[in-house]
Amino acid sequence: MPSISSLLIRRAHILLPSGEFLVGDVQTQGREIIQVAPNISSSEAPEKIIDAEGLTLLPGVIDPQVHFREPGLEHKEDLFTASRACVKGGVTSFLEMPNTKPLTTTQAALDDKLQRAGQKCLVNFGFFIGATAENLPDLLTANPTPGIKIFMGSMHGPLLVDTEEKLEPIFARGKRLIAVHAENQARIDERKKEFAGISEPAIHSQIQDNETALLATKMALKLSKKYERRLHILHTSTGDEAELLRQDKPSWVTAEVTPQHLLLNTSAYEKIGTLAQMNPPLKSAGDNDILWQALLDGVIDFIATDHAPHTLAEKGKGYPNTPSGMPGVETSLPLMLTQAIQGRCSVAQVSNWMSTAVAKGYGIPKKGAIAPGFDADLVLVDLNNYRPVLREELMTKCGWSPFEGWSLTGWPVVTIVGGEVTFNRGEFNSEVRGRALTFNGAS
Ligand code: DOR
Repeated sequence: MPSISSLLIRRAHILLPSGEFLVGDVQTQGREIIQVAPNISSSEAPEKIIDAEGLTLLPGVIDPQVHFREPGLEHKEDLFTASRACVKGGVTSFLEMPNTKPLTTTQAALDDKLQRAGQKCLVNFGFFIGATAENLPDLLTANPTPGIKIFMGSMHGPLLVDTEEKLEPIFARGKRLIAVHAENQARIDERKKEFAGISEPAIHSQIQDNETALLATKMALKLSKKYERRLHILHTSTGDEAELLRQDKPSWVTAEVTPQHLLLNTSAYEKIGTLAQMNPPLKSAGDNDILWQALLDGVIDFIATDHAPHTLAEKGKGYPNTPSGMPGVETSLPLMLTQAIQGRCSVAQVSNWMSTAVAKGYGIPKKGAIAPGFDADLVLVDLNNYRPVLREELMTKCGWSPFEGWSLTGWPVVTIVGGEVTFNRGEFNSEVRGRALTFNGAS
């Protein structure tokens, strides 16, 4: 394994924790940032110098919701291919979901994922423990984990925990974070029957409609309030949920939104068909706008991709036999930075939503800021040039993106994981390995 003991990044536009920019230098030693200053003249020569003139240095992205498919579904993605896609996208840490094969519902399954990731993952990693109606003891003791994932809907098999009766004991016992996929399964089942026989993919958004999401988010909020239980609402997809949270969001609740729920809507089905199919489904342009405003106002706390790769063959089966989900880790940062450069928000806000606020929300120590003592997980981006998303350049094993053809700026030029240059102007250092993340706070 390569090991860089010191790195000097020169003349970068550095995003400081204050939200301001400093044109200057950053020095790392081992895995840590040791100095940030206008001009560092070290007595000892650093092992590597990166000339970052004209580039912007941000804390590495922490993607708090991904599906990386290993073990069991490696024909779609695996931890090595996914983590290469991560570094290309400036993602230096991820939190992964339990719907693999086997499901991550026991300590043994969690340990297996941690071991696999330690062997093949280029970035830092954490794995959720999945709730079933039966594994409460595992949910109380699993470690290390960012929290408990509950699929309230849109999942088959044991991971589905879809009624108040099954949900309540999970909220009632323990303190650790509960992250919910909020869709009401009973309503989905009912509406699937109503719309049976329709093979037009756009019907997906009508079946799993705004009310489907709102009902489940209301239920999760109710239980979270009853037990003052730390709750995180995954991929908020509707204006209705955003408005509900604006009225009623206890201090122990956080919420996230995906770039696709901000930037794509039901019109996408016309252009990309089932590639636009995901859960919770894309909604209307009006929902896009309300979600954006909620993000700007701090009602929604951070951004996740819900990277959920499926092969083109699987996506070509014809609705409703097509799986839901789309990849995202290698486009999320440039998508959001493009929005910033086009005036919708600031670069500092993007970095907060994609790194700082995530580290805070999950209690991940020493991540999410460029300051001495923080981990040297960094990304240098180019905010001066635009390049299109091209299928042939994608690293994800599934080999497609819903954003193909979009012209974006803010592409990562250099990605640094734990003080190691892992991606540099198109070249990967595939020897670098990330580390298991730790989580402070409620556990
Ligand atoms: O669209 C989705 N795909 N939503 C999920 O919640 C699961 C994911 C997957 O694993 O494919």
